[in-house]
Amino acid sequence: MARWYCLPLILILIKGSFCGQWGAWMPQSIYALRDTCVAIPCKFDYPDDIRPSVVHGVWYFKSPYPKNLPPVVLRTKTNTAHESFQGRTQLLGDLHQRNCTIQIDRLSSEFQGKYYFRADLGGYNQYTYSEHSNLELLDNPSILSPDEIIVGSVAELTCYAPDNCPDMKPIVTWFRTEGLEQQSVFGKLQEDNYMWTMMSLLNFLPTHKNNGHTVGCKVNYPNTSLEYEAFTTLDVKYPPKIVEVNSSLETTEGAHLILLCVVESNPMSLVTWMKDDTVLKEDLSANLTLEFENVTHNYDGIYICIAENFYGKVNRSLGLAVMYAPWKPSVNTSILAIEGEPVTILCSTEGNPEPIITIMKGKSLLSTAIYENELLLELPEVSHEDDGEYWCVAENQYGRSSSSFNITIEFAPIVLPESKCTLARDTVQCMCEVKSNPEPVILFEIPEKDIIINETDREFVYSQRNGYTVSSILTIRREPSEDILVICSASNLYGTKVHELEFKDANNHIWGKVGPVGAVFIFAILIGVVGYMIQTRKKKNQNESSSFVQTENPPVMFSGDYEPKEKREKSQDEFHSVAEKMLLNKHKDPMELDVDYANIDFSRLRVKDNYPPTKETAEYAEIRMK
Ligand SMILES: *[C@@H]1O[C@H](CO)[C@@H](O)[C@H](O)[C@H]1NC(C)=O
Ligand SMILES: *[C@@H]1O[C@H](CO)[C@@H](O)[C@H](O)[C@H]1NC(C)=O
Ligand SMILES: *[C@@H]1O[C@H](CO)[C@@H](O)[C@H](O)[C@H]1NC(C)=O
Ligand SMILES: *[C@@H]1O[C@H](CO)[C@@H](O)[C@H](O)[C@H]1NC(C)=O
Ligand SMILES: *[C@@H]1O[C@H](CO)[C@@H](O)[C@H](O)[C@H]1NC(C)=O
Ligand SMILES: *[C@@H]1O[C@H](CO)[C@@H](O)[C@H](O)[C@H]1NC(C)=O
Ligand SMILES: *[C@@H]1O[C@H](CO)[C@@H](O)[C@H](O)[C@H]1NC(C)=O
Ligand SMILES: *[C@@H]1O[C@H](CO)[C@@H](O)[C@H](O)[C@H]1NC(C)=O
Repeated sequence: MARWYCLPLILILIKGSFCGQWGAWMPQSIYALRDTCVAIPCKFDYPDDIRPSVVHGVWYFKSPYPKNLPPVVLRTKTNTAHESFQGRTQLLGDLHQRNCTIQIDRLSSEFQGKYYFRADLGGYNQYTYSEHSNLELLDNPSILSPDEIIVGSVAELTCYAPDNCPDMKPIVTWFRTEGLEQQSVFGKLQEDNYMWTMMSLLNFLPTHKNNGHTVGCKVNYPNTSLEYEAFTTLDVKYPPKIVEVNSSLETTEGAHLILLCVVESNPMSLVTWMKDDTVLKEDLSANLTLEFENVTHNYDGIYICIAENFYGKVNRSLGLAVMYAPWKPSVNTSILAIEGEPVTILCSTEGNPEPIITIMKGKSLLSTAIYENELLLELPEVSHEDDGEYWCVAENQYGRSSSSFNITIEFAPIVLPESKCTLARDTVQCMCEVKSNPEPVILFEIPEKDIIINETDREFVYSQRNGYTVSSILTIRREPSEDILVICSASNLYGTKVHELEFKDANNHIWGKVGPVGAVFIFAILIGVVGYMIQTRKKKNQNESSSFVQTENPPVMFSGDYEPKEKREKSQDEFHSVAEKMLLNKHKDPMELDVDYANIDFSRLRVKDNYPPTKETAEYAEIRMK
């Protein structure tokens, strides 16, 4: 007799050797889909010394002990069964072959449980095996997914259905597989310890779009309406994709901005907004916004959104250009230079877009830089004319700003051409107009008399400053016939300028009309008249004036003009009053004065033009010469 069930040896060893003694084998658990059928594979054995003439068997449900009266699934001797199993069961195996395989049809949940086999070899040779099989019913097939479905690498899904009933062969199919790329399906029947499983394998190439997609598996049985379904939702792992991010943009200061970075990934990515290697914001999120309440120029730059998960890392960048008006230019605050030196001025600012920078002095434009943040002005050799206030102006379409700075030039004195002496009756007014920085020391020299008068002699010299121009006026009283030469010398630490003051007529056109000969004639008359008057006045003033006598040769008498007003008013002398008018009138237009006294100019020198009037004739001094 072929004892197939003793082989293979491994099976026997695992399940326990029962060859030649009471023993049975059947699967501990067996599965079937609800409403289908199942065949429980079964083998049994008995001691070799028993030689039964006929072999019968009984399948019990739930209990192995006949005295407990368990439901009889099938009794072969009488071919009977408990009513619940009636017409549902049949023995497939040949008991003589020690094959106790049984089929149960139309399974419902009440049939779930343990099944026991009892061999009946006649007489007392009856034995219920302790080995039993537990039937479990399934509502659905099962789908097995790989641990990880990664985008780009082929994935395989498996759908299982038990296939243990020869009468009902399952057909396993897939559905809802739209969108799965490169899909292929093949079926496979697998046996494991006499238990069979029908499988369907679905292969596809996952894409990120498949994530979250539900795939279905269906089990059908031919010629029945039975249908079982199972579903699985795909969890496709994929590296992040930045699906939306703002493009580069331009803005102005003060703007309120929101930048958005939308990421798709599985699992969720760590999203980071960065600028210049600094993390601005970071979150495990599908979208990360960056909000700027109040944009300033510091926000200008490149922003990067980085998304990273286990499967990859991506980034996208955008440029944010913040436009703003130029800042107040910064420039050398004050520059002091000596005439002839080179001077370099740097005006720098910042603006976006880069501004047009100009350096101006007054209305004249000295230098321009277009679309630069700085402008360098080089003056190779400054002159006193470069002294003054300058402006650096920066402008772009968002605004304009400017800074001023001063260049101070130090230079040697320059005696201006306006300097001259003017004759008037018995006085000579010599004005020396000097431009200089720093302030000059001005000396008047009358070489013939060997007199040097400096401006600290407030009694005789009146000085007035206007910027770098100092006007020093010396008033001397002279004898009519005398010719004098007045030299003005101005000096500061950069040099000395000596200038012989020209004598000029207060009103040249008269001499033009009368001609030189006529002029000489008029002089003669006037010299006579004025000479007389001066003598008269001298006598009159002698006691009154707060004069002093310089003892050096020649004796010169100086007299101040600051005699009290009432004294001057008392004077009845016509000329005196005229002279006073000339010397003391502080309010009358000097031009008018010049015209009045044009005809008493005794000058024999070339006649030219008026010297610029000094508006404020505060103090005068007279030098009277004998
Ligand atoms: C027992 O009988 C069944 C039904 O005829 C058969 O499919 C199975 O192969 C048999 N088992 C063995 C071990 O021969
Ligand atoms: C299904 O039924 C048809 C006839 O109705 C029969 O030809 C076919 O063999 C049956 N198929 C199965 C698997 O029972
Ligand atoms: C950035 O993009 C988001 C979404 O498209 C938009 O709402 C937002 O206004 C954009 N930000 C700017 C500054 O354009
Ligand atoms: C924006 O910032 C600037 C400078 O910090 C400030 O002067 C201005 O008032 C702010 N504007 C708003 C709307 O907060
Ligand atoms: C952004 O990605 C590029 C390549 O795509 C890489 O070279 C660069 O280093 C990344 N930048 C950052 C900040 O990660
Ligand atoms: C002005 O500043 C610039 C830059 O600081 C410097 O190079 C230049 O010499 C300065 N000019 C003067 C006159 O100080
Ligand atoms: C430049 O000089 C002017 C006049 O002397 C003065 O008002 C101004 O404040 C000076 N500017 C600077 C920047 O020193
Ligand atoms: C100017 O004159 C005064 C008095 O006459 C004298 O003390 C002073 O030294 C003089 N200054 C110069 C620079 O000559």
